[in-house]
Amino acid sequence: MYIRTGLSVSVLDTLLFLSFYILVNAQNASFDVLDYVNPLIGTANGGHVFAGASLPFGMAKSSPDSTDDNQGGFATDGGAVTGFSHMHDSGTGGSQSLGNFQLFPQSGCPGDDFTRCKWTKNDRTTNYTNGSVEARPGYFALTLNTSIRAEMTVSNRTALYRFTFQGSNSSSGSHSAPYSPLMLVDLTDLPNSRINGTAQSDPETGRLSGTGAFSPSFGVGSYILNFCADFKGASVRRTGVFDNNRPSTANNVIHTVDDGIDGSPEILPTGSWVQFDAPQNNEIIARVGVSFISIDQACSNAQNEIPDFDFEGTRQSAEDAWRKKLSVVSVNATGVSNELQEVLYSSLYRSMLSPQDYTGENYLWNSSEPYYDSYYCIWDSFRSIHPLITLLDPNSQTLMIRSLIDIYRHLGKLPDCRMSLCKGYTQGGSNADIVLADSYLKGINQDVDWETGYEAVISDAEVEPQNWNVEGRGGLESWKRLGYVPTDDYDPNGSGTHTRSISRTVEYAYDDFCIAEMAKGLGHSSDNVKYTRRASNWKNMYLANQTSSVNGTDPGFVGFLQPRYLNQTFGFQDPTLCSPLNDFTGCYLNPDGHETYEGSSWLYTFFVPQDMAALIETLGGKQKFIDRLTYLHTSGLLYIGDEQAFLPVFQFHYGGRPALSSHFAHYYIPSQFNTTNVGIPGNDDSGAMGSFAALSMMGLWPVSGQNVYLITPPFFPSVSVGNGQTGRTATIRNINFDSGYSNIYIQSATLNGKPYTKNWITHDFWTNGDTLELTLGPKESSWGQADEDLPPSLSTTNATTAGNGTNVSMGELVMEGLRTARL
Ligand SMILES: *[C@@H]1O[C@H](CO)[C@@H](O)[C@H](O)[C@H]1NC(C)=O
Ligand SMILES: *[C@@H]1O[C@H](CO)[C@@H](O)[C@H](O)[C@H]1NC(C)=O
Ligand SMILES: *[C@@H]1O[C@H](CO)[C@@H](O)[C@H](O)[C@H]1NC(C)=O
Ligand SMILES: *[C@@H]1O[C@H](CO)[C@@H](O)[C@H](O)[C@H]1NC(C)=O
Ligand SMILES: *[C@@H]1O[C@H](CO)[C@@H](O)[C@H](O)[C@H]1NC(C)=O
Ligand SMILES: *[C@@H]1O[C@H](CO)[C@@H](O)[C@H](O)[C@H]1NC(C)=O
Ligand SMILES: *[C@@H]1O[C@H](CO)[C@@H](O)[C@H](O)[C@H]1NC(C)=O
Ligand SMILES: *[C@@H]1O[C@H](CO)[C@@H](O)[C@H](O)[C@H]1NC(C)=O
Ligand SMILES: *[C@@H]1O[C@H](CO)[C@@H](O)[C@H](O)[C@H]1NC(C)=O
Ligand SMILES: *[C@@H]1O[C@H](CO)[C@@H](O)[C@H](O)[C@H]1NC(C)=O
Ligand SMILES: *[C@@H]1O[C@H](CO)[C@@H](O)[C@H](O)[C@H]1NC(C)=O
Ligand SMILES: *[C@@H]1O[C@H](CO)[C@@H](O)[C@H](O)[C@H]1NC(C)=O
Repeated sequence: MYIRTGLSVSVLDTLLFLSFYILVNAQNASFDVLDYVNPLIGTANGGHVFAGASLPFGMAKSSPDSTDDNQGGFATDGGAVTGFSHMHDSGTGGSQSLGNFQLFPQSGCPGDDFTRCKWTKNDRTTNYTNGSVEARPGYFALTLNTSIRAEMTVSNRTALYRFTFQGSNSSSGSHSAPYSPLMLVDLTDLPNSRINGTAQSDPETGRLSGTGAFSPSFGVGSYILNFCADFKGASVRRTGVFDNNRPSTANNVIHTVDDGIDGSPEILPTGSWVQFDAPQNNEIIARVGVSFISIDQACSNAQNEIPDFDFEGTRQSAEDAWRKKLSVVSVNATGVSNELQEVLYSSLYRSMLSPQDYTGENYLWNSSEPYYDSYYCIWDSFRSIHPLITLLDPNSQTLMIRSLIDIYRHLGKLPDCRMSLCKGYTQGGSNADIVLADSYLKGINQDVDWETGYEAVISDAEVEPQNWNVEGRGGLESWKRLGYVPTDDYDPNGSGTHTRSISRTVEYAYDDFCIAEMAKGLGHSSDNVKYTRRASNWKNMYLANQTSSVNGTDPGFVGFLQPRYLNQTFGFQDPTLCSPLNDFTGCYLNPDGHETYEGSSWLYTFFVPQDMAALIETLGGKQKFIDRLTYLHTSGLLYIGDEQAFLPVFQFHYGGRPALSSHFAHYYIPSQFNTTNVGIPGNDDSGAMGSFAALSMMGLWPVSGQNVYLITPPFFPSVSVGNGQTGRTATIRNINFDSGYSNIYIQSATLNGKPYTKNWITHDFWTNGDTLELTLGPKESSWGQADEDLPPSLSTTNATTAGNGTNVSMGELVMEGLRTARL
């Protein structure tokens, strides 16, 4: 199906959806993609996945909140429930995020005395019945051991709860009480970060509303959020407010200021409440609108989105929204286990929880541009989440790019991390540069102001901000003068944490490469030269004679990235430091960190995506490179649960051994990515682990920041992806697919029926709706091994697409830069 561009996005989306819907249903009338999404994957053992109800990229995310390990709200190994809250982030690595304004239901108060109900988080905490959890996209439910069944769904900015009570006959141990349900809302959040707040109750309508200021979970500053809760199903009996464990009906407004004086007392429970007569159907619907702007807007969001408190209808809309998003990918799953299908679709699902669409909810500036938030964090998401969103939902990626550029326009820098309208912490380089370049090269341009986007990345490369912990780059003067971030940098131009000099150097080099690509595409040729040169700066921290002992034995690989000082001499950091074999957690983001971030020099030495050919030569040629990369994967030095580990799974392509990339994709999936509650190896970071699994299983790994996908066989007989901008469908088909995965090595390939020997392909494969057929066998073949078939590298080759679809070779890109430079 081809549709002219010019049709509106929503018409295109709908047509695409319909065509896939029909296609899928033609294959299997009973197929429902939602049956293959398990939102509980990654909700135990620190995965921190958000398990509750959300729309794709939605702001409202309703969930029970667990007592422990509750970064994402509910954890299957997180203990009891403290309440239900309406906004969350998924998979965060640091502390808990959001979880504001917990709502808590009780079916009655002992002796019908409201002062004897449970008010504080500690007192009200309640277990849920074993086996009562039900999780599906757009829906979550569990039964509290007070016998209250709690179900939840959402619209974009409103959480909708249906609480079902046992009725007058209910009697559940100590909770036995006269039947007169009470709902409280606590001005709290998951990290107990409240700065101040106000809660109200309306004695006529039973409406509870309020506002609070809180701190972001991995960033600076504070944010203000508002809620508006309305109830349906029972008549209002009394209302009031509470402070700590003291409720009263004498007031309907309460203010609190938690001034955070050193050693500050615990932030006390404070909020408002409403008690009802027995509900007619043993059911109370609670509709909680949220808004960053005002209480009024929280109320109008709820009123506009869910005017009639229709739980089933709201759930249906949420499910349909997910079906539509997920239907873009269709697979022939003949012979593929249900488990692997579930890994695929659950992974795709998690990749579309964030960034969150907060358009119209940003009180920081006035703008008609879209506003997305929860870029949590770009250091994690640039590698595969954004390339995946670009593939699945280019229209959303377009809005995200516009929002990133608008953040630059109003704050002066792109974010590296952002949540709850606040600046988040930068972990390495200014990696939004990579996200912008990736989208630029892939033709994301509808209403995108790329000139301002370009200005933003140049600002990252040239202008050091005062606080480079939260934006931009530090050490820029040294970077420009010496070509690396000195380990003992002297930097009077800005402040930030002086660690990670090695990993920041290699990230800055790649960021600058991405800027060079944009410069080329936008016709800024002297910038192209400048940043192409800086892209080689990774070499400046490479110490050619450095050896490494692993578990006390030298495996014989020489040459690693090492600390380097202002006086240009080298220091020493054990290349295994901060790998799983040596002080694994020693390189976190704190002043005691080391020169690599969340990983070892062993790992970072491979981070030269812009010029793998030069790296291979530097490391002693292809065989040495392949041996070293294999060793990285098999020695215990690599932890697949952190995002820098993703690309090295596929870098065998650059050494002419695409078969090994396929081998290692299967080595990690499903052994480390599966359908259990612990089924991801690290915290999900807003879907990063999911995007790795999904893209690996789909067969084309995107080298983020380049118009390059590395080809491996999909885990299915075939995978098709419809493009939401061109309306065309691309297919990768395996010939000789076997479900035991012995045939995972490409013997030959055709593109639209013609022989195809390169081991990589460009984005127009997807936008053209091409067909790639891979003939598989049980042994490695010579397919994709020849020099001319390797992916592009700055120093040697040929062929990448710079900019708006104009094909230029990388070599040409450099040469043109150099010619211009001589003028
Ligand atoms: C929840 O159940 C566990 C195991 O039965 C028990 O140890 C714990 O005290 C219960 N928690 C609450 C808040 O009732
Ligand atoms: C729930 O059931 C599982 C398996 O039957 C059991 O291991 C676990 O202890 C139970 N949890 C509670 C809180 O009863
Ligand atoms: C609910 O949990 C409490 C505390 O753990 C326990 O005493 C009570 O028996 C539980 N009730 C039900 C219905 O499971
Ligand atoms: C939610 O917001 C998205 C935009 O992010 C919009 O396309 C969608 O229609 C909205 N969904 C509902 C159910 O309102
Ligand atoms: C609450 O805290 C926020 C953030 O610090 C501040 O802007 C606001 O003025 C405070 N409001 C009150 C009523 O103290
Ligand atoms: C792409 O950009 C180049 C400049 O780099 C320009 O010459 C060309 O016209 C552009 N092509 C399109 C289709 O916009
Ligand atoms: C390793 O190389 C550095 C830098 O070239 C040099 O200063 C040092 O002496 C060499 N070390 C050894 C053991 O050869
Ligand atoms: C270079 O600087 C490092 C770190 O300050 C210092 O240890 C080393 O002695 C210096 N080397 C020379 C040759 O000055
Ligand atoms: C190093 O030791 C660890 C832990 O004992 C082990 O898991 C790993 O396989 C070893 N690696 C090598 C290369 O010896
Ligand atoms: C599932 O994945 C987890 C996390 O990577 C891993 O620890 C576990 O062993 C895997 N389970 C199975 C059955 O493969
Ligand atoms: C799906 O794949 C199987 C196994 O490769 C093949 O036999 C079948 O024809 C394919 N189905 C469709 C609809 O292409
Ligand atoms: C590089 O590209 C040129 C044309 O731009 C082509 O003639 C040459 O064969 C290519 N070289 C390799 C190694 O692919």
